[in-house]
Amino acid sequence: MYGLINRAIKDLVIERAGEAAWKRVHHDAGVQEDEFVAMESYSDESTYALIGSASRLLDLPQEEILKEFGRKWITYTAARGYGELMDGWGLDVGSFLDNLNQMHARLKLAMPRLEPPHFEVFERGESSLVLRYWSDRPGLSPMVIGLLEGLGERFGTPVSVELRSARSEEQDHDEFFVTWQAATPGSA
Ligand code: HEM
Repeated sequence: MYGLINRAIKDLVIERAGEAAWKRVHHDAGVQEDEFVAMESYSDESTYALIGSASRLLDLPQEEILKEFGRKWITYTAARGYGELMDGWGLDVGSFLDNLNQMHARLKLAMPRLEPPHFEVFERGESSLVLRYWSDRPGLSPMVIGLLEGLGERFGTPVSVELRSARSEEQDHDEFFVTWQAATPGSA
């Protein structure tokens, strides 16, 4: 995955446990690099290894790290020049999710090696929808939950997410039930 992702993992570890903890995390992960170039693509193995190692050293289940990473990703990217891009694809949870594939497709123009996930929205209601998530990568559904919660924060409409059915031998995607609260005055 692009270095931007590994950099965000590094940030999360330093924020939670400091520089020394990060040194141990990337050392124990067997990842040589201490710095990652945002626009360069690294092996998925290095990203999974960093997450595994962070989970062991911070004594947090991998699912928790992925969820926190997802929540943080929204503010992390917004603070690094991607806020306007996000604004351009919707200013509420529902319309943003409708456009998420197009947003990743736009990113692929600048990041040609991007292998983005795929999302489809179903059963769209006033403040709920069903979201299906396809990816070539296993085990990232907790990250999706965090991402959706992060979007809720971004739009000032807190989001709840329930994993309705997980990817399995019979099903090639995860399915989430997503609900959000009405916008609070003064928010997005
Ligand atoms: C401007 C904001 C965003 C940027 C810059 C961005 C960029 C990226 C990048 C660079 C990757 C790594 C994939 C690769 O290198 O092949 C990625 C993966 C991913 N993105 Fe985004 N993304 C953004 C917002 C979102 C949002 C809002 C969601 C979902 C609600 C999302 C869902 C995912 C997921 C689940 C992955 C993991 C890869 C996978 O499932 O295969 N992204 N994104």
